[in-house]
Amino acid sequence: MTLSSHGAASSTPDEIPSLYGPGTTVKRVRTRHLVEAKERGEKWAMLTSYDQYTAALFDEAGIPALLVGDSAANNVYGYETTLQVSVEELLPLVAAVARSTKRTLVVADLPFGSYETGPAQALETAVRFMKAGAHAVKLEGGRRMAAQIRALTDAGIPVMGHIGFTPQSEHTIGGYRVQGRDAQAAEVEADAHAVADAGAFAVVLEMVTSSVAAEITKRLPIPTVGIGAGSETDAQVLVWQDMAGLRRGKPPRFVKRYADLATVLQDAAKAYADDVRAGGFPAKEHGFE
Ligand code: KIV
Repeated sequence: MTLSSHGAASSTPDEIPSLYGPGTTVKRVRTRHLVEAKERGEKWAMLTSYDQYTAALFDEAGIPALLVGDSAANNVYGYETTLQVSVEELLPLVAAVARSTKRTLVVADLPFGSYETGPAQALETAVRFMKAGAHAVKLEGGRRMAAQIRALTDAGIPVMGHIGFTPQSEHTIGGYRVQGRDAQAAEVEADAHAVADAGAFAVVLEMVTSSVAAEITKRLPIPTVGIGAGSETDAQVLVWQDMAGLRRGKPPRFVKRYADLATVLQDAAKAYADDVRAGGFPAKEHGFE
């Protein structure tokens, strides 16, 4: 055993139980591995995924957790907000992602309207997602959703909480607004503790001020997953089309683009169309005798 730069006890390189990378002992990422990663100060990245190809690619790339987000509403189905997507629309996406991964933990988002009326409704919906292949579910809300989180964890369903800016409540919050400034800091912190106390294994902090997110991360025993919450959270999450530049337009401030897939894909489509017009495709080798 050695002491890490965080002062925590850590294993020697041969026995590092890291989430991925050389020497990992983790075959299938479980919720306990994410909690252990926090304990040894290992940061990790989560991405959304909604289909078999990205799921397999991200799994092979070593992304330890994939979220089949209700952001499929805007990024798959073409809706304007996440409020419009249904359980029936998300279930096949969860099944596809679960079937296409070997190591990553697959988290299914419970969409708006599928868990708010109480623990019984939340349990019924979560069971459907677990039967579709999810390993955990995510739901939005802090103190007001503690009973739902408790009911699911009591039933053996791991829950990822989601607090701060919660898009399903955008009409109550009054738009896309940063959470945790001034007197609101105590509210966000109370939500974080309520989610952890109810048994969640991790919590997403969306558009929370960096200082409040850092404080919550320090105090909570479970991992915090930031999106627009600064650099001090235990993990980060991005919508994959934002991360890879498939979505056009100005991205939110908290997004970093690691590729320009929109240009790559459109150039490929143009090259194909030009080739067909010019008679270059199909060539002899693409046909059958
Ligand atoms: O649905 C989603 O993509 C999310 C992330 C932004 C956390 O909830």
